[in-house]
Parts: sequence; C-alpha cells; structure tokens
Amino acid sequence: MDKILVLGCAGQIGSELTLELRKIYGDSNVCASDIRQADKDITESGPFEILNVLEANKVAEVVKKHGITQIYHLAAILSGNAEKKPLPSWDINMKGLLDILEMVKELKVKRLFWPSSIAVFGPSTPIKNTPQQCVMDPNTVYGISKLAGERWIAYYRKRYGVDTRSIRYPGLISYKTEAGGGTTDYAVEVYYDAIQKGSYICFLEKDTYLPMMFMPDAIKATIQLMHADADKLTVEDSYNVGGMSFCPDDVFKSIQKEMPNFTMDYEPDFRQAIANSWPQSIDDSIARNDWNLSFEYDLDAMTKVMLAEIKKKFEK
Ligand code: SER
Repeated sequence: MDKILVLGCAGQIGSELTLELRKIYGDSNVCASDIRQADKDITESGPFEILNVLEANKVAEVVKKHGITQIYHLAAILSGNAEKKPLPSWDINMKGLLDILEMVKELKVKRLFWPSSIAVFGPSTPIKNTPQQCVMDPNTVYGISKLAGERWIAYYRKRYGVDTRSIRYPGLISYKTEAGGGTTDYAVEVYYDAIQKGSYICFLEKDTYLPMMFMPDAIKATIQLMHADADKLTVEDSYNVGGMSFCPDDVFKSIQKEMPNFTMDYEPDFRQAIANSWPQSIDDSIARNDWNLSFEYDLDAMTKVMLAEIKKKFEK
C-alpha cells in the first residue's frame, strides 16, 4: 500500500488534494504537512506534521517514520508575492525542490508530484494555444523558478531515474482555501467580493485572457497523472494543461447571470504586466493523449458552484 506525504497541505491545492488522497488511500496513509497549522478537517482526519521544506533533514525523518512512497510537494510562493521578495521566494521555490529531489533519490521514494505553471512561459512564447515545446522566457521570479525546476526534474529523471510527475497548472479557482498572491487570483477574489460586497475592483484589465481551471478538475487531473503508467508518459518535464480561457469581463458577465446587480471596476496594478507575459490559452493535447486529461467545468458551471459555496461559508 502506498504511503503519501503532502508538503504544503494548508495551501490552495493542498487543502483539497489531501482530503481527496485520504479518500483514495485511507486517512492514516496520507500524512499532511505544512509550515503552519492546517484546518481541522485535515489535522483531525489523519496524520499531520509541521514541516518547513527548507529543513530537508526533518522532511527526511518524516519520510522514514511514515514509510512514505509518494510525495506531493506543493509548497511555493506564487507570482505576485514572489515579486515582492525575490530572493527568499527563489529559496523556497528552488532550494525547496532541489532538497526534496535529492531526498527522493537518496531514500528511493517511488514517485514525486511537483506543480509547475503557465508562468514558465514569457513574452516571446506564442500567446494562443501555446504548445508544449516553444520559446520560454519567463520574466518573473516565480516563472524562472518553475522553468528551472522543470529542467531539474527532467535531469533527476534522466540521471537518477527519479519519477517526478508535473503539470503546468493554469490559474486555479477554488472556494475552500483562498489563493495567496497569484496573478490569476482575481478569478478567486471576484467571487468572494461578489458575495460579501456585491462588487469587485479587478487588478487586471477587463480583456486580459488567461488559461484557468476549476479546482475539482485540477485535483482529478493531478491524481490521474500520478496514477498513469510510466511507459505512457512522453513528457520529461511538465505537462501543459489548459482548462478554459477567459478574461475578467467574461467572469463579470457570468456572475451577473446569477447576481444581476453585481458590478465590477478595473484598477490594474503590477500584476497586469505579469499577465501580459503569459499565454491566453494552452494546447494540452499531449496530456489528453498520454493520460486522458479531461474537464467537467466551464465558466458558468464553475460560477454557480463558487457563488453557492462561498455563500454557504458566510452563512455559517
Ligand atoms: N496561479 C499562479 C499565479 O498566478 C500561476 O501558476 O501565480
């Protein structure tokens, strides 16, 4: 039986993925960890450890103690926040990954998941239907660390046989845990403000298209990739995954269908330049072929769930 360790279980992805993994592998077989305390639904349903990814020895102790066979390494600083603290963010995003790769190699952990991002692309990348392989010239701390990370996982795969699976996530939208400091996070904030204030001031221009995905689709894709047969996987670094493509004005119209009085204004900040350097849509045909990537949610279906769930949260 596999034993799983999730690093960064209190974050946007971890807080949902951990619970899904516990359903699949059994609560006691999924050890959750984070640098900070996580929600009760995680700490009370299975093992939990406080862990800093920059303290590799302590992570290794936990791996040995629990007999871990698979690690999901989700701890990272997102694009907007990383611009505010470039070097500390580089340490967490890059040194954090290298230490874990080295440990996975040394302790012969069977499989690692590590998220990459559309942030690996840059201004010279084809902007529409961005292919898996193309010019990549990221100009953010976050994007540079993700691209370097992709090369490192490919290196560890080739040189040491470390089996790392990775997805270039588009913007991820969820209601359980709010995202923290990403450029795509307007598409999370907007739903919270719609419910709490009836209006939203967007930090990106109304026509800024970006690739996006609803969290249930992201969780499903992640687990599908981790379960895929190794001999079916043709990408050595990280898979393009597209989901949908929409702009703030599309979200505005989608929310207005449910809440006709909702209003939205625009005050773009430094994140506009980051968004402008990223693709508008992604070609994910290789993931569809290799491991049957598929999506259930479009923008309107997601809007309905986001509004209903956030409303429930504030009614409690
Ligand atoms: N959602 C991330 C960000 O905006 C992109 O991977 O930083």
